[in-house]
Amino acid sequence: MKEKIEEMKKNAKAKIQDIKSLQELQDLKVKYLGKKGELTLMLKGLGSLAAEERPKIGSMVNDVRKEIETLIEQTEKTMKRKVLEQRLQKEKIDVTMPSNNIALGSVHPITQIIEEVKDVFLGMGYQVVDGPEVEKTYYVFDQLNTPIDHPARDLQDTFYITEDVILRTQTSSVQIRTMENQKPPIKMICPGAVYRSDTPDATHSPLFHQIEGLVVDNNITMADLKGTLEMFVKNCLGPTTKIRFRPHHFPYTEPSAEADVSCFVCGGKGCRVCKNEGWIELLGCGMVHPKVLENCGIDPKEYSGFAFGFGVERIAMAKFGIDDLRLLYENDVRFLKQF
Ligand code: DAH
Repeated sequence: MKEKIEEMKKNAKAKIQDIKSLQELQDLKVKYLGKKGELTLMLKGLGSLAAEERPKIGSMVNDVRKEIETLIEQTEKTMKRKVLEQRLQKEKIDVTMPSNNIALGSVHPITQIIEEVKDVFLGMGYQVVDGPEVEKTYYVFDQLNTPIDHPARDLQDTFYITEDVILRTQTSSVQIRTMENQKPPIKMICPGAVYRSDTPDATHSPLFHQIEGLVVDNNITMADLKGTLEMFVKNCLGPTTKIRFRPHHFPYTEPSAEADVSCFVCGGKGCRVCKNEGWIELLGCGMVHPKVLENCGIDPKEYSGFAFGFGVERIAMAKFGIDDLRLLYENDVRFLKQF
């Protein structure tokens, strides 16, 4: 019996030292110490021994049991620590490793100009409004004093959706929408896309952007228009920029003017951008035609207003030295990220 116990102890120890996983250890625990384990069965079998043998063998079995229990416990501890260490090793993060490059986009030059202009006008108390690009001819032409037989309609090659729905050719339509919906005082700008059926080349695109401006209140005069535009060009194009006005014609303003600015690339000396003229044609403007005010339910005897509109691409091209309009729409990031 004694030898059997010694043998079992030796065996158990060897097996415990040999285990490769916690599961194996658990299996050994059951094999020796479980309800039907070898040691448990041995204790149960003590009854069949001679009475004087029983206590000796009994305490021997108990000692072995304790020994094996302790050994299993210790092995379990070491094993668990080892497993944890392996896991920590595997999950170790090298904080000094360079990260994956995340490419950052850049703000499109057109958006940059629009944001700058918005900033200047918001600073002067204007609201920024939006309007539909698919628009009724009523808003783009009729209400702007440009009836069906008016020659000004021929000046703009219009994309027609139906007979009286078009892609707007100018943001001036938003003047009408604003005046129909709001009472004076009105101070608004409207940036947005416009469409004309032009063949694309270095200076033409069937889609481009305009910013429209409108002020209606008591006693608004041409002097307010000039002062406002001067403030705008100095803020957006540089503090030394000069502005000049030339008489012009628009059906929705009376009087009407076109404004040029001193070339903000060469300062007026003459360069490639201003075609050696020293001036760049910038915008159309004028005093809102009394008929247009009337069309929108605003009494021209009580109120007057000024309006202006200009192309965003033209400013972006001059400001950033871009010589082909098409580059702005090709979305080549190598081009776009230069600005
Ligand atoms: N709508 C004109 C254009 O597309 C620009 C313009 C001129 C807007 C005079 C105005 C204005 O508001 O008063 O060329």
